[in-house]
Amino acid sequence: MKKLFIVGNWKSNKTALEAKNWLDAFKVNDLGITDKEIIICPPFTLLSSISLEVRSQKLEARIGAQDISPFDEGAYTGEINGKQIKEFGDYVLIGHSERRQYLKEDDEILNRKVIMAIKYNLIPIFCVQERNTVIPSGVRIVAYEPIWAIGTGNPDTPDNAEQVATAIKSSNKEITHILYGGSITSANTNSFTKMSQIDGVLVGGASLDSTEFLKIINNA
Ligand code: PGA
Repeated sequence: MKKLFIVGNWKSNKTALEAKNWLDAFKVNDLGITDKEIIICPPFTLLSSISLEVRSQKLEARIGAQDISPFDEGAYTGEINGKQIKEFGDYVLIGHSERRQYLKEDDEILNRKVIMAIKYNLIPIFCVQERNTVIPSGVRIVAYEPIWAIGTGNPDTPDNAEQVATAIKSSNKEITHILYGGSITSANTNSFTKMSQIDGVLVGGASLDSTEFLKIINNA
């Protein structure tokens, strides 16, 4: 049976108290999961507290960052580098369409971010918006997220997502896992995860509610 990745991307949401309330209700161990990798991607301000809490409660979840500096440690005001992230997490999202659009991240910057992630033993989850999006070398996990499906309540069809996943895997043999993202809910998640080439989901809005996120994990 394939291993599914269920990733919650909180984006720029949640204070420390809101995150604590979320975690208090996140009884993921009660689901008895063995074949799913659950990854929570909080904002940088919460990486430390969430990872300590996950460790102390021995929750069946891993931590990821939503971004990484394209530079190593040093004089780069405001940047959070791979060495700092690795203290708290194992994964990092790179190439999300919101960062490409609002922060003008281009292929060169994204390639440098992937290099930094790999240098510090972080696993990049590289977001692509279509089947022809450039994927830096070293990436193994890709999240296919069409822009028009993000936060709109209008997901891609599982058939189309499967076709894109198949095309990406066949043109890039380094890619081992493809996730789908864009308006995932507990009601539609299984229609994607049951497709043979789709290895999980990247969840934005619906991951902000721990009860809904637990349902997604359960239904996937
Ligand atoms: P959404 O976002 O689930 O709110 O559509 C997905 C994403 O942007 O990762």
